[in-house]
Amino acid sequence: MVFGFEHVRRMDPVAYDLAVKEARKQSEQIRLIPSENYASSAVLEALSTSFANKYSEGYAGRRYYEGQEFVDQVELLAIERAKKLFGAEYANVQPYSGSPANLAVYFALLQPGDPVMGLGLPAGGHLTHGARLNFSSVYYQSHPYVGREDGWLDYDQIRDQALKVRPRLLIAGGTAYPRLWDFAAMAEIAREVGAYLLADIAHINGLIIGKVHPDPVPHCDVVSSTTHKLLRGPRGGLVLGKDRALQGVSEADALKRINRIPGRIDRAIIPGIQGGPHVNQIAALAVALEEASRPDYAAYAAQVVKNARALAEGLLDRGFDLVTGGTDNHLILIDLRNKGIPGWRFARVLYEAGIEANMNSVPNDPNPPLKPAGVRIGTPAVTTRGMKEAEMAHIARWFGELADAMSGEEVVRPEVVDRVRSEILEVTGSGRFPVPGIDF
Ligand SMILES: Cc1ncc(COP(=O)(O)O)c(C=O)c1O
Repeated sequence: MVFGFEHVRRMDPVAYDLAVKEARKQSEQIRLIPSENYASSAVLEALSTSFANKYSEGYAGRRYYEGQEFVDQVELLAIERAKKLFGAEYANVQPYSGSPANLAVYFALLQPGDPVMGLGLPAGGHLTHGARLNFSSVYYQSHPYVGREDGWLDYDQIRDQALKVRPRLLIAGGTAYPRLWDFAAMAEIAREVGAYLLADIAHINGLIIGKVHPDPVPHCDVVSSTTHKLLRGPRGGLVLGKDRALQGVSEADALKRINRIPGRIDRAIIPGIQGGPHVNQIAALAVALEEASRPDYAAYAAQVVKNARALAEGLLDRGFDLVTGGTDNHLILIDLRNKGIPGWRFARVLYEAGIEANMNSVPNDPNPPLKPAGVRIGTPAVTTRGMKEAEMAHIARWFGELADAMSGEEVVRPEVVDRVRSEILEVTGSGRFPVPGIDF
């Protein structure tokens, strides 16, 4: 059963049936997609509160519509909690998601055509970091940087490129980099070339809260994030940072709000790129931030990393080739070329066996993006279920067995897939690893 869906069941059995199927699948699968997690029942409930009915264009005390007394309070609550949790001087909790948060940063700090340097998409950057076809390269001049052949970032190489490109915005952060970011090194490069530094911590927000990843806030002009993924909030976005004056503003003008980064970000979000905020999402974020401020969240973040390391070791023992040789964070990028199995095909077979992962390009991938050589996995969701190192050992074993059951694109021993599937159903159905908000 799924909590609180009774009205949907009565009103719309078709939508109800789909929601139940999705919930059952999320409960039965081993979810290893590193950007996915399970939000708590409290966060899911907060998403369904009457805040969903309210239009609230503007900011607390400066709204266009009447009736904002509770909206203002819940938004200020989320802002204060975000500032405290991340040690930031300002926070904007209105972005609809991570991509609009990044769009707001571009809109606030750059002019169209300004040069930007972010991690390239095939090297593990996000679409909004300057990928072809995205606004970030259509309206700005994108000069992506990449890691070394072995997948590690090389800050000297980034510096050399930045000295040539002279970007107006340098972006640290990505979606498939399994190592720690050196925000201090990125800040030094940004200072040297006169760029703003944005850290996009969508993937690692929870690790920063749990202090198992270096903190970007002291080093960056702006920090953007999603509010889901590791943070386990509702789907949404966040912009954080220091209250700094914009570059190139005279001493006399530097005190004006519009010449300071917070003022610019606020105006970029509304009226710049968005209308009314999703207040139910903001209420749910307030709840998630409260949850993340508790000691058990820091323990969760530390366990996410321990589990990722344990899983990486198990995979290495079974002959898998990991980009950079392992992980320091919540994710692992497997290069399957040495196994002779295409990454995209392995992701499908994993799914048939009950494991959700995603195909992913690896450094210098010879294959097109929809047929990449790698698979990306991560431990946020399984750790939320309470799985630990012992379960990571089982998962690594299943990966090894499934790879051994394949030859190229073919599954040559389908009975192995069936057996792994039933072992997984036994584990996920045992009641030992409950999923928040789902109770079958
Ligand atoms: C690093 C990074 N930034 C931004 C985003 C965009 O978030 P959203 O999908 O919520 O727009 C993602 C999502 O995958 C991400 O990984």
